[in-house]
Amino acid sequence: MHRKIAVTSALPYANGPIHIGHLVEYLQTDIWVRYHKLMGNECLYFCADDSHGTPIMISARSKGISPEEMIDGVHKEHLRDFEGFYIEFDNYYSTHSEENRWLSEDIFTKLDKRGSIVQKKIEQAYCPKCEMFLPDRFIRGGCPRCGAEDQYGDSCDICGGTYQPTDLKNPRCSTCSATPVRKESVHYFFRLEDYEEQLKELIAGGYTQKSTSNKLDEWFSAGLRDWDISRDGPYFGFKIPGEDDKYFYVWLDAPIGYMASMKNYCDSRGLDFERMWNSGEYELYHFIGKDIMYFHALFFPAMLMGAGYRPADKLFVHGFLTVNGQKMSKSKGTFIKAGTYLEHLDPEYLRYYYASKLSGGTEDIDLSVEDFVNKVNSDLVGKFANLASRSGPMLFGKLGGVVGEMDEDGAELVSKLRKVKDDIIADYEELNFASAVRRIVSCADEANRYVEQKQPWATIKSDEELTRKTLTAVLNAVKVLTVYLKPILPRFAEKIERFLDVDGLGFGDVGSDLEPGHKINKFERLIGRVEESQVEKMIEESKENAAGAKEEIKEDEKAAMEPIAEECTIDDFAKVDLRIARVESAESVEGADKLLRLRLDLGGVEKNVFAGIAKAYKPEELVGKMVVCVANLKPRKMKFGVSEGMILAAGPGGSDIFMVGADEGAKPGERVG
Ligand code: 2FM
Ligand code: ZN
Repeated sequence: MHRKIAVTSALPYANGPIHIGHLVEYLQTDIWVRYHKLMGNECLYFCADDSHGTPIMISARSKGISPEEMIDGVHKEHLRDFEGFYIEFDNYYSTHSEENRWLSEDIFTKLDKRGSIVQKKIEQAYCPKCEMFLPDRFIRGGCPRCGAEDQYGDSCDICGGTYQPTDLKNPRCSTCSATPVRKESVHYFFRLEDYEEQLKELIAGGYTQKSTSNKLDEWFSAGLRDWDISRDGPYFGFKIPGEDDKYFYVWLDAPIGYMASMKNYCDSRGLDFERMWNSGEYELYHFIGKDIMYFHALFFPAMLMGAGYRPADKLFVHGFLTVNGQKMSKSKGTFIKAGTYLEHLDPEYLRYYYASKLSGGTEDIDLSVEDFVNKVNSDLVGKFANLASRSGPMLFGKLGGVVGEMDEDGAELVSKLRKVKDDIIADYEELNFASAVRRIVSCADEANRYVEQKQPWATIKSDEELTRKTLTAVLNAVKVLTVYLKPILPRFAEKIERFLDVDGLGFGDVGSDLEPGHKINKFERLIGRVEESQVEKMIEESKENAAGAKEEIKEDEKAAMEPIAEECTIDDFAKVDLRIARVESAESVEGADKLLRLRLDLGGVEKNVFAGIAKAYKPEELVGKMVVCVANLKPRKMKFGVSEGMILAAGPGGSDIFMVGADEGAKPGERVG
């Protein structure tokens, strides 16, 4: 029986272009959606522009156009970029739509009726000249910590400090430079805390990946606070029912935009939106980046549950993109817009490269230019395209394009490739595209070895029918590989389908041979090599001088961050005595699947330490290792014994915990700091 699935990606803001950082998510989602379609499932992909908020209003103003004009223009650009990368939405809509207004009001009214909305008076920065309240990012001034000039109202780019806009030295409005004043206003708040139990239940039921559970625990233990869901005018958004000049905060109606996009799709096709979203007939998944987890793991599902709508079955959270190991940067030219990329390079290079890096977790992925060039040339061109171009043109040119039977070795090769299908399907299903790619590459290696052995370019001179057998086997292997690669490389696959003269291959076609007697078409070039100089040119063109290189302004980014713990002084920190220790023994702890019991030698002093690293390290691989230990931690009595120290390790959790190691030559007991 086929599955019915609805999928969303986070909605990009309508005040800027799509860049290669965004594309990690849209490509990840698109590959997953295509995989499901090729499995014969019904999988619908919804998205929209996130069209409201202060940055959009101000940006339109500075261009001298209305916000509506601006979001229309950006909508077209976004669509063009997505199409350019073969990202296929079933509906791409906008949050500035009647469906979204209706749904936002509906959800708000239902929450209000059940007492989940409260009003509170708050004080905020206000620009008397612009006559508007200023979000933190629209106030600039000197950093209260390091004194750096011209920093945002919430954080300093130089020292990384975070603070309140009231702490800034000489604050000023970033639009008109006037000095902001404090002004009171009544805001609407959503009582998130009322949903704590329901949220915990949802999460316990598998709403998020395991690796995000630490973060969620922290949020719960920090306490769920009321969420400010209103903004005073002037604001570009939806007016709150019954108010003259108050609007829904953009982050209230943004995720509701997922529903609006689905509703617009359903309404225009005579389908029942309520049923699609609410009945459970469709599985529902959101793909998001880890920066917007708070909204998607807490606010949005709480609002939905409060208003009688169904939250998604699961969130798929991915990490950020770095380029050559660093944050994307406009001045370095690594903040590459989708449009610029497309002027220089084939979109399928990036689809393939990202796929080869994405394994379904929340860790960041790195685009290394050298690795990118190597992978494209060695795998895409050297392995996949090569296999097809060594067989198709010869069969077409020399043997009338007619497929025959396979020889024994060939049949064995093809059956071996077919056996990998279930593993590849499991990889796609779990978003472990990197693993799928590794399997496909090794299938291609196998097939290329077969060609080397059979030497069709030599046998064609003496034995045409033998050569036909060889080429038939290679083309059958190509067909299998094409299905495997099709979610990642849709155009590449289409070209192969055209020359093999087979239509719309899917996973159901992996098991069938090309019929003897079937005729193939003329071969067309599949994909070209990439030269490092092309990539360099693209980077050069993406360079903006530091002055003009304002980084993208996200609406109240701070709201997405987790609360920062209470300050500790440098003196507090200096009290921590870090020592090199040698792991003498390590064993698992019965009844505690995350813990290992370690016996550490600190140069004559022995300590017993329980470490929460069992999911990341096997006991036997730790023995003899040099680690760093907090030697003066007060012993703690735990359920399983006394822990007399702590080893340094960090990471999101589960198998992603990394121990700080020390050189083999280090001496146990030596102080580190
Ligand atoms: O962070 C962002 O870019 C937001 N525009 C994402 C919104 S996702 C959803 F909630 F609408
Ligand atoms: Zn101003």
